[in-house]
Amino acid sequence: MLVIHTIADIRMRLRGVNGIALVPTMGNLHHGHLDLVRIARQRGQFVVVSIFVNPLQFGINEDFFKYPRTLDQDCKLLEGCGADLVFAPSESDMYPQPQQVKVALPPIANELCGTFRPGHFSGAATIVLKLFNIIQPEIAVFGKKDYQQYYLMRQMSEQLNLPVKIVGAETVRAPDGLALSSRNQYLKDEERTEAAFLYQMLTGVRQAILNGEKDLGWLQGQGLDALVSRGWRAEYVEIRSQGNLEKSRMEEKNLVILAAAWLGKTRLIDNLEVFLDGGSA
Ligand code: PAF
Repeated sequence: MLVIHTIADIRMRLRGVNGIALVPTMGNLHHGHLDLVRIARQRGQFVVVSIFVNPLQFGINEDFFKYPRTLDQDCKLLEGCGADLVFAPSESDMYPQPQQVKVALPPIANELCGTFRPGHFSGAATIVLKLFNIIQPEIAVFGKKDYQQYYLMRQMSEQLNLPVKIVGAETVRAPDGLALSSRNQYLKDEERTEAAFLYQMLTGVRQAILNGEKDLGWLQGQGLDALVSRGWRAEYVEIRSQGNLEKSRMEEKNLVILAAAWLGKTRLIDNLEVFLDGGSA
């Protein structure tokens, strides 16, 4: 497995390589990421994993400086699971000058997480587009844990006619249901135990929908109240249409329940798809 640090080197190395599958990451890899690599391996001929903590997608008071950077450990994990090349560029190579050209996304980027993290998705889309231009993959794999990001990447690829197929990977969970995330390690022991409640709340809301509850606004309120009553600082619990992330209408069959909430100093997000037509997640 090659580890390459500069844009010039990776362009040279990838000249003439076909069937590239890209897994964009910010590093500090866990089993969820390794699952993305496994999917990339199945779908592509040459697997590139990028590792770059992207300053453009962090707000000024967010965790950019404390975000865990564990490149050696990440490379060891990747060696054993089918990655061909790791691209770990420096900030000065990716952003030699202030990045003023940015991807403008559909208005839905300002809802859900976008309400609480202004500019986040444009920053993420901009680095992903830069990575696409440098690496020229045929396929890129994104985790559905970041459901809104996954949706917006598909929109970007479709609306800008990028020759990249965006593939979604199911969320990988700990045995108690907590979605794997690099930010879980910020949780103190007692918070880690409580963190599984986010998933329990989502499964409760999903069950209520499957049982025929039609008042989705009321259900969202129930979900929020449940979090708040246990000491969470909830940002949102929303039931949206899978197809466009708009507020869902009663007749819609494929819904997704999305939530973001703080436990102490850690912001967690999660979501669950609901298929009312008998489809499966
Ligand atoms: O999901 C992430 O880790 C990041 O948003 C991504 C896609 C690697 C862009 O920095």
